[in-house]
Amino acid sequence: MASPTVIVFGPTGNVARVAAITARKHGAQVVLAMRDPSKEINGIRHEENGYERVQADLTKPDTIREAVLKTGAKKAFIYQVHSSDHLKSSIEALKEAGIDFVVFMSSFTIVDAGGDLEAISPKEHIPYSHARVELSLLEVFGREHFVPIRSGSLATNLMMFNGQAVRNGHVSLWAPESTSDCISADDLGEVAGTVLVNGSDKKIIYLFGPEPLSQQKQIETVARVLQKDIKIDTISTEAEAVEAYKAKGLPEAVARLIAANLAQNTKSFAAREPQIYREGVSNVKEITGHPSTSFQDFVSSNSHLFQ
Ligand SMILES: NC(=O)c1ccc[n+]([C@@H]2O[C@H](COP(=O)([O-])OP(=O)(O)OC[C@H]3O[C@@H](n4cnc5c(N)ncnc54)[C@H](OP(=O)(O)O)[C@@H]3O)[C@@H](O)[C@H]2O)c1
Repeated sequence: MASPTVIVFGPTGNVARVAAITARKHGAQVVLAMRDPSKEINGIRHEENGYERVQADLTKPDTIREAVLKTGAKKAFIYQVHSSDHLKSSIEALKEAGIDFVVFMSSFTIVDAGGDLEAISPKEHIPYSHARVELSLLEVFGREHFVPIRSGSLATNLMMFNGQAVRNGHVSLWAPESTSDCISADDLGEVAGTVLVNGSDKKIIYLFGPEPLSQQKQIETVARVLQKDIKIDTISTEAEAVEAYKAKGLPEAVARLIAANLAQNTKSFAAREPQIYREGVSNVKEITGHPSTSFQDFVSSNSHLFQ
């Protein structure tokens, strides 16, 4: 059977990079659709056999149409990226150019927001923006021709706001009891690349890390695994937390949203939705053949992030 051609948008990204490598391992010809094709991708050399680079931007339908037509790709992996129509015209361009199956990097927060895609309020920015893309995919491709991967909280989130502080050995944490499942981007990418090539019977794929951990426990795990001294202080008021996020470059509205979400997140998703959580942990094993990676193992294999 001829090897399928798949197109992966944003392959410099943590999940898409591994999705591309995994799709190649499953025998696909892989098109790397990049805003800047001259960029390095860790683990994929320029001119590497089985890969082709094309210029494309997920917010620019003409570049998408051209990339798909030029390469003959039939299946696509996409991220949610900000666009005025929630990627509707980009998704139409994928379909018009010949894509017949899409894997979309979505978010578990859709469940927390009630699960009804149409009803999620724009005020709930993260679930809303992912739900809008899922709705466009449903409308343009239909349920049989796309799969949303509704991921839990990435293990790398800890570093998004506390990276430098962890490396410096002194962290000031807001909401230290805020708890998340810490799924590894490599697991997500392996699932995405496998499903991209082989398809899936599942209509929605939930994926979670194997053990919910508070922010405090995550930092203690980093300290233990890397034998590093890390002092932890607590930010005591939400107003101070908002100021701290603003100082890290976030707009005020986003800083407020993050501080409020973290404060409310002391009961983990695993406790709120145990059945979906268990399904999401076992999906990793079912699709990749190995268990969902623990935060401890994630830290061991990504020590460069914390040093
Ligand atoms: N953080 C969480 O806990 C969480 C939970 C559930 C779901 N998610 C979803 O997962 C995503 C993060 O995944 P990740 O860590 O793999 O992301 P990432 O490492 O930040 O990579 C995203 C990639 O998208 C590419 N990109 C950005 N805008 C683009 C555009 N207009 N056209 C084409 N490519 C574009 C960027 O590539 P270049 O800059 O090289 O162009 C970047 O490398 C979030 O955005 C969210 O949708 C996150």
